[in-house]
Amino acid sequence: MKFSIGRNDTVFILTGAGISAESGLSTFRDSGGLWDRYRIEDVATPEAFQKNPELVWEFYSKRRKELKDVSPNRAHLSLANFQKKHPKTYLITQNVDNLHERAGSTNVIHMHGSLTRIRCTGCNYFEEHLEDIEGIPKCKECGNILRPDVVWFGEIPYFLNQIYELLSKTKLFIGIGTSGQVYPAAAFVSIAKSFKAKTVFINKERIYNEDIDLFIEGNASIEVEKFLSEIEVL
Ligand code: APR
Repeated sequence: MKFSIGRNDTVFILTGAGISAESGLSTFRDSGGLWDRYRIEDVATPEAFQKNPELVWEFYSKRRKELKDVSPNRAHLSLANFQKKHPKTYLITQNVDNLHERAGSTNVIHMHGSLTRIRCTGCNYFEEHLEDIEGIPKCKECGNILRPDVVWFGEIPYFLNQIYELLSKTKLFIGIGTSGQVYPAAAFVSIAKSFKAKTVFINKERIYNEDIDLFIEGNASIEVEKFLSEIEVL
């Protein structure tokens, strides 16, 4: 199936943990993934943070430290190159790692927040924070404890108004490395389809969704570059 897009056509790219797997970061639902090793209710909900902020900080501080040991892979780099060639490409990621930015992508929409941002539980203070964090950091403005600026289960993802606006104008939707099990991101492909977008998924494991026009089964580091290189820009 050949895909062609106009210069001014909106391309909506949704990535999930699978795009970072070949860089060495764990996914969530593959065997041995994060949710095999941790319980969501212990480390990824507001109630968990209330109950045991030390454990939650330990979980995120460990993942923050891992960022220093990994690099973007060919899938991240191919997306960054495609964005440069086709500026109307919008990169929406469920991932909290910084590999898209480190690959050269700009205006990355982190709908689930970022490991490199922390924010105050008591005031509007937030900061980009790359250094390691030990224990529970405190806000230098108001003294309250800081939290990872990551969207937990039961919280509302960021930038949804902008995302839905983009989906209504999308001509080509590409989902990469996501199991499509967590909403609202899991509904994005169907919303794009309802606005007559062409829809493509690239994933290691087959996922079944009648709104996917083309499913490419394989590793993102190979298949993303291959697919993007075959898109005809009119
Ligand atoms: N190439 C392509 N796809 C891959 C690769 C790879 N090398 N490795 C794994 N995958 C696929 C898996 O087959 C799986 O379908 O990536 C998908 C990862 O799915 P999940 O682990 O569920 O991750 P994701 O879809 O990003 O989870 C969504 O759930 O827990 C929350 O907030 C968390 O953002 C996360 C959200």
